[in-house]
Amino acid sequence: MRYVLTQSTEHLPLPRVKVERKNFPDGELYIRVGPVQKVVLLTNITANNLLEVLFTADAVRHAGGKIQKITIPYLGYARQDKVYKKGEAFSAAVICQVIKRLGAPVEIYDVHNEEIRKHLPFKSLSLLPELLKKVPEKDYVIISPDQGGRKRAAMIAKMLKAPLAVLKKTKVKGRVEVEGKVVVRGRDVLIVEDMISTGSTLERAAEFLQEAGAKTITVIAAHAVFTKGARSRLEKGPIKKIYVSNSFDVKPSKKIEVVACLER
Ligand code: R5P
Repeated sequence: MRYVLTQSTEHLPLPRVKVERKNFPDGELYIRVGPVQKVVLLTNITANNLLEVLFTADAVRHAGGKIQKITIPYLGYARQDKVYKKGEAFSAAVICQVIKRLGAPVEIYDVHNEEIRKHLPFKSLSLLPELLKKVPEKDYVIISPDQGGRKRAAMIAKMLKAPLAVLKKTKVKGRVEVEGKVVVRGRDVLIVEDMISTGSTLERAAEFLQEAGAKTITVIAAHAVFTKGARSRLEKGPIKKIYVSNSFDVKPSKKIEVVACLER
């Protein structure tokens, strides 16, 4: 099977179909693919790439090809999973409805909230078990940094037969705060995350766990979105090691290990 990749997944070493991509002087996007037959469309959904995804899918059709499956390592906008305030857009639902119209089966890795299934039926996959294989074996306490991540962290706790603690995350005047009753003094902890964006959640969770006496702090996070400043903040903090997948094109460092989960 060959892959049609968008810019967001171009870094992945996969057998691919040629994609010509350019912008006209006014910024409008041009996409041409081919030659093509049956393909997998492999793309992240990022802040601004939905048009590119739609044009790429349309170009496959015009080249006489067929999208057998759409694989989405990272589904952006998934955190806007409800109408929290009257009058705001339900962005996750809009994105899902648009992808659904492409008419191919969809699979998504470590989606932020499974409830968006109402708007787009998809196969749910996780990169976390692959990341876990790289983590040194220890008697960890597994930590979810917020209530929303409970199920994800519970899956890892079950795999390791380890205790689970779920922190409570709040935002006070825009600043992330975490609290919770955890027994981690002298223990190695493993924080489980779907994504690292600004890094604030992990930064605060790690500080909290350090204050609570954790011996070492390790992280597995499926998607390294890494907005500006996230990396430097995490490189400085108390986390010993962060394992992320290659769903995004991120550079590894002494602290950040990029695990090649998405390749053949
Ligand atoms: C939130 O509910 C997610 O699971 C992540 O904890 C969060 O999105 C990470 O974002 P940031 O790195 O900006 O704190």
